Amino acid sequence: MMKSAISTLLLAGAVRAAPALATENTKVSPLATPNLLNLIPRTFEISEKRRGWLYGDFPFGVAPYPYGKLADKKIAADQDIWKPPVFELGGVIVQETQEAVEAVIASGNFTSLDDYAKVYKNQWQTSLPDGPLPGMLTNHTDDRTFSMMRLSSVPYRLRRVQREDPLLFPLDEDLSRSISGHSLEELHAQGRLFSEDFAEMKDQETTSAYGAGCQAYFYIDDAGDFLPLAVKLIVKGREDSALVYTPKDLKDEWLFAKMTINANDGWHSTWGHTTMSHSAAEAPYLTAIRSFSENHPILAVINRIENLPWGVRPNLEESLVNGTADTGPKYYPWTADAARAWANKVYSSGETSNFSSNYFYTSLRNRGLIDYKYGPALKSFPFYEDGAVLIEALQKVFSEFINAYYKNDKAVANDREIQAWVKEAVPGQVHDFPKKIQTKKDIVEVLTHQAYLGSIVHTIMSGNGNQLDIMALPFTAAGWQSPIPTKKGVITDIVPWMPTPEGAAWQVATYAAGNRASWKDTNNTFAYMFDNEELQSRLNDEARAATAKFQTDMFALSDKWRARGFDENGLDRGMPYVWNVLDPKWAIFWSVV
Ligand SMILES: *[C@@H]1O[C@H](CO)[C@@H](O)[C@H](O)[C@H]1NC(C)=O
Ligand SMILES: *[C@@H]1O[C@H](CO)[C@@H](O)[C@H](O)[C@H]1NC(C)=O
Ligand SMILES: *[C@@H]1O[C@H](CO)[C@@H](O)[C@H](O)[C@H]1NC(C)=O
Ligand SMILES: *[C@@H]1O[C@H](CO)[C@@H](O)[C@H](O)[C@H]1NC(C)=O
Ligand SMILES: *[C@@H]1O[C@H](CO)[C@@H](O)[C@H](O)[C@H]1NC(C)=O
Ligand SMILES: [Fe+2]
Repeated sequence: MMKSAISTLLLAGAVRAAPALATENTKVSPLATPNLLNLIPRTFEISEKRRGWLYGDFPFGVAPYPYGKLADKKIAADQDIWKPPVFELGGVIVQETQEAVEAVIASGNFTSLDDYAKVYKNQWQTSLPDGPLPGMLTNHTDDRTFSMMRLSSVPYRLRRVQREDPLLFPLDEDLSRSISGHSLEELHAQGRLFSEDFAEMKDQETTSAYGAGCQAYFYIDDAGDFLPLAVKLIVKGREDSALVYTPKDLKDEWLFAKMTINANDGWHSTWGHTTMSHSAAEAPYLTAIRSFSENHPILAVINRIENLPWGVRPNLEESLVNGTADTGPKYYPWTADAARAWANKVYSSGETSNFSSNYFYTSLRNRGLIDYKYGPALKSFPFYEDGAVLIEALQKVFSEFINAYYKNDKAVANDREIQAWVKEAVPGQVHDFPKKIQTKKDIVEVLTHQAYLGSIVHTIMSGNGNQLDIMALPFTAAGWQSPIPTKKGVITDIVPWMPTPEGAAWQVATYAAGNRASWKDTNNTFAYMFDNEELQSRLNDEARAATAKFQTDMFALSDKWRARGFDENGLDRGMPYVWNVLDPKWAIFWSVV
């Protein structure tokens, strides 16, 4: 089976090369790195591109947005491709939303939290047929669902409280001991304390719904399990009396606290993804367009990875700002303007835009989540474990790809187009782009990260990630319908805080739109990252073989991961739900509009 997949891909490249040659001249010429012979035509071509792709602004903000004779043409052509499926899916979702609301009402409305599972049952047959991830609808009250989500579904704001870090907030010593067996200070000293901080969200412009900016502690217990310790709910104007909730509180109050920070993490994924997977990749792509010839193998590969990127901000602007779609200001605690302002803030701070410091391993290391010297390793860390397998696959295919075009490190250092790309990061405002690319390893890292942004980051923060876990009901409501309590002991039933049937259906609809459920197993997925006729027809044999091997490896990996399920304790890798979102035949390889 593996063999036949290789040969099919190889054949596809070979067969399709011939007719294509006859039609589009520039596109089918074999890819080549710069040399003396191509100096004149390529210099001419690149300066033409630099005149046609200029740095502009977009109302949504963040990275430079292209304009100019060539850019405008490409943006218009792209629009003809990305818009029809968006509208088609949108139409289906409008219909399915109506049906879901009617079904919930017909079944007697929501009377308990568990009732919210009804909004998915036999609904969204086209847009979200399989509903949230297995376990999300039944195991959300389990503390391990809450904590392990930070090690899988929402890994980007979690950090270990490192030796030199201050504590976010104090916690009563007896209380801390009764939960964890240790004081907060002991856990900190032992390197077993972790935190998430969304306090900044409390200051955003509000809607008629309610939310808080939360902070939380997690810890590694004596058995090595990763568990929640406390959640603090901070509301603007009453910061001094902010309440701290723990597993020792009333069951529903503790659940309420966990759900309130879930909404923060969901907001972080939803709006953060527009900059972390989209703009952070668009900026170096635009500088690449201005630096490389279209005949350069590096640009050819980036052209494939960056599928339809310029549609993202127009689509956001149209739905968010011009309001042609219901972006649900009634249901999020914060307005659409707040979303845009917040996205710009995390972009300009470097959190989501930084290139090098957001490398997969670098980011985890900086946050003390791997290789931490002064504390224990995480026993189960699904985001890291699955992510590392895919990152290594990318590093391998890009190493072989670079080997196919560069004899040695010196050839990389002497590639005038790569060196132009490095320099272009300054006018192109690529935050934290490498200061130098001098070796094969350097360029492999850059390509790996570019591919990681569009595939893994986008899948986790949008795609089949946040739609099916952190933004799935009933464990996360986008916002609350009643205010955050000012004292303990008042929440014995969460339902009065929860959305109506319309609100619940709005939440499913909003997230189903980003999910593209029907793309599972298609050529939009990670395994097909290099499976493109034009690219294949222009690669040399060695590079083509490397990409074919990547694809068969990813098919095999998908088969292996799909065998996962609940063990005899009802867990998958310590999680009360099955987290398979990075499945290479499910995760989309590009940052979907
Ligand atoms: C469903 O219940 C909520 C409160 O529990 C209420 O606000 C809403 O009006 C109800 N909807 C219908 C259609 O009965
Ligand atoms: C938003 O509306 C303004 C004013 O009507 C219009 O000029 C602009 O083109 C619209 N933007 C998008 C992306 O549709
Ligand atoms: C972003 O990168 C710059 C260096 O290029 C660094 O100074 C800054 O601290 C980084 N920001 C974050 C949030 O990592
Ligand atoms: C998937 O294949 C179809 C049919 O060959 C093609 O039209 C489409 O562009 C491909 N999509 C991607 C992302 O490669
Ligand atoms: C989680 O849910 C699944 C399916 O609903 C169930 O089989 C499993 O036992 C649950 N796990 C725990 C820890 O409750
Ligand atoms: Fe997206």
